[in-house]
Amino acid sequence: MTFHYEDERLLCEGVELEAVAREAGTPCYVYSSRSIVAAYQAYDAALGSLPHVICYAVKANSSLAVLSLLAKAGCGFDIVSGGELYRVLQAGGDPGRVVFSGVGKTTEEIGFALRSGIRNFNCESEGELAEIDRVAGALGVTARFSLRVNPDVDAVTHPYISTGLRDHKFGIDIADAPAVYARARDFRNLRASGVSCHIGSQILDYSPILEAAGKVLSLIGQLQADGLGIDHVDLGGGLGIAYQPGEQAPAIHEFIAALRDRIGRYGLTVMIEPGRSIVGPAGVLLTKVLYRKQSPAKKFVIVDAAMNDLIRPALYKAHHEILPLRRAGGGAIVADVVGPVCETGDFLARDREMTDAQPGEYLAIASAGAYGFAQSSNYNSRPRAAEVLIDGSGWRVVRERESFEDLVRGETR
Ligand code: LLP
Repeated sequence: MTFHYEDERLLCEGVELEAVAREAGTPCYVYSSRSIVAAYQAYDAALGSLPHVICYAVKANSSLAVLSLLAKAGCGFDIVSGGELYRVLQAGGDPGRVVFSGVGKTTEEIGFALRSGIRNFNCESEGELAEIDRVAGALGVTARFSLRVNPDVDAVTHPYISTGLRDHKFGIDIADAPAVYARARDFRNLRASGVSCHIGSQILDYSPILEAAGKVLSLIGQLQADGLGIDHVDLGGGLGIAYQPGEQAPAIHEFIAALRDRIGRYGLTVMIEPGRSIVGPAGVLLTKVLYRKQSPAKKFVIVDAAMNDLIRPALYKAHHEILPLRRAGGGAIVADVVGPVCETGDFLARDREMTDAQPGEYLAIASAGAYGFAQSSNYNSRPRAAEVLIDGSGWRVVRERESFEDLVRGETR
């Protein structure tokens, strides 16, 4: 168990989190290196002898320490910007195991990716293909690409993070893909190497991913019959995690076993782009209770973390468990956990049955390793939180808390 109680104290691996909160200060993200590496290894082991590249979706958590852990374990990376590529290279990632996704790659980003020698572009429009061809030609290189196809499959998740339906901005309609691949043969500096798809995120029932995989594989069969040298299939990310008690996330090995059953016989290299399922359960956000307040309608627990630190509850009505760092015998309350930001949407939990936390006590906001810090901002001129990496019984600050000077860096009066 990565996060567990011993003598009523919450530990991550072998480290008592209250000691971290006191020394590193709050708000502070804490990640378990063992949990991150174990999740990567679960994917790797389940894919086994099938030729594969696991491309961790950098957007989920792009901190250098996290990327560096994964790079050392042999992981590849799925990037969506030049900034993410820069981070991967800084962290020691292998550009030969990088795929570049996203609907709006700029000329500069395409050039940077080609000069860095990335493995593959996941392309989302014919205009983008033309631009990659042009930049590759100018650099005298050939770019490998996949079309990201839109299989029109409902991922059954929050509408903001569902991507595989016909009216979403993502991908190229799967029915149009053969014609686009055929036209792409005219681009002298491109080589079609795969087909990719990603239907959404936080998917708890993975049958839609299998359905999408089935559609993509039959497209690949058709393309191969047309004489295209497609050698890989990229099935994106999306596997969900358990945020709430009673929620059941599929085990990584089960999901991959189901995929293997379908893909094994095609002789393709399998690529996947998991993000949340690798880092989500591995992280918590530590926060301190500042005040308690009772309105005529509600109890409020006012903490020093806010929507700028973790926007998921405000943006997706996401549920994150709230755990005391020190479990006391006291009764439970029902309260809203809110931050200092001046918006009613600034809440971390609503009408939550929780520990009767008093000012000065610490709480952990659970399952915050994915899309937590990565989506944080300086709204209300709040310096971004510190980040800590735990390894066994040791821990270190891997990102300093921002200072007021950081807040105004690059600005002029
Ligand atoms: N590949 C592509 C092309 C993606 O767009 C994404 C996520 C992934 C892979 C990784 O998906 P994952 O394995 O993490 O589900 N901010 C939202 C999630 C946005 C997901 C965007 N794309 C949240 O906090 O729930």
